[in-house]
Amino acid sequence: MQVRQNLPLRSLTTFGVAGTSARTLTLERLEQLDALIEALAGSLPFILGGGSNVLFARDLHEPLVLVRLKGRRLLDDGGATILLEVGAGEGWDDTVSYTLSQGWFGLENLSLIPGLAGGAPWQNIGAYGVEAAELIETVQAVHTGTGERRTFSTADCDFGYRSSFFKTADGRRWLITSVRLRLSREPHPRIAYGEIQQELAARAALAAPEVSDESADPTGQPAGSPSPQQVAAAVRSIRRRKLPDPASLGNAGSFFKNPIVSRDDAEPLRVAYPKAPVYPVPDAAHVKLSAAWLIESAGWKGFRDGDAGVSAQHALVLVNHGNATGPQLLALARRIQQSVHDRFGIALEPEPVIVA
Ligand code: EPU
Repeated sequence: MQVRQNLPLRSLTTFGVAGTSARTLTLERLEQLDALIEALAGSLPFILGGGSNVLFARDLHEPLVLVRLKGRRLLDDGGATILLEVGAGEGWDDTVSYTLSQGWFGLENLSLIPGLAGGAPWQNIGAYGVEAAELIETVQAVHTGTGERRTFSTADCDFGYRSSFFKTADGRRWLITSVRLRLSREPHPRIAYGEIQQELAARAALAAPEVSDESADPTGQPAGSPSPQQVAAAVRSIRRRKLPDPASLGNAGSFFKNPIVSRDDAEPLRVAYPKAPVYPVPDAAHVKLSAAWLIESAGWKGFRDGDAGVSAQHALVLVNHGNATGPQLLALARRIQQSVHDRFGIALEPEPVIVA
């Protein structure tokens, strides 16, 4: 197992902020687990995958574990569904593309999400009407204090909106080694999300003059029903259009969760701003508000203070224009929270993990 002292943090997260990790251990193979547990000697490590949902606002004194466990294994392909085990260190989007190329469906709406596969259960990634929790069968993890290895059912994972057991204080003791995904051989396109419908319609309109028998959908879907590949392509183009690419502009995707508030608490906002988006949630007594709308309406979209800013493309994304520090981005996040609270009485909760 590779152990490095005083490693710069900048290239380890998609925010690209500077910092130093005193001691970094890189886990590449399951056979290294015993050595890892021994090296940690009971101390609580910070576990990092692709670093796409983390803001480091200080140096790391605790051990940093980089999870780079690779490998994909087909465990069950007997029927209408398959079970695929994916190492926590596999790229998430690579995994989505791989499954589509194999004719295993379900992940298409989760295309182009940055990060590694271990992050999918960790924060229950979600986009365009689908959450990872719906596709996950089990999560394999190891306790970093005792070395116990355990398989977590979806009930154990306690998935919620961008949350899971692994994000809790007890859960942070567990290092996810792999995730098992239950995928379908039959396409079941999930296109209820309005933006996907618009994108598919626009693409169909563009393609219409060339439609012929030869270009019929190879998955055998009835006319009018998009293939999973078409859904994935639509999601990719929506994301490319709306979200800044972390490879060229540091960011961690949505910086705040969409607030879920009681209907009573949402009422003053609805009355004062009839255009404010309000979405239903399964619990009928509550609704989900749009953090992006709140932030844009408070005047922050495109704001920049030094190299810390708010994306001009999407108000929910904080960006590092180059040399913003973690504390500067955190200070900006606090100003936005205060301003949204003063203006609308709504509390915004950060989505990424903040190490401060
Ligand atoms: N909006 C604005 N200003 C903006 C952008 C959006 O007012 O600059 C409003 C619009 O009314 C828009 C609404 O916000 O209709 C919703 O915007 P969008 O569809 O982009 O979705 P979101 O709620 O901002 C969530 C997730 C994203 C996910 C998309 C699509 C959270 C915190 N974010 O964003 O996830 O890709 O839905 O499903 O739930 C992430 O978690 O990092 C992430 C990017």
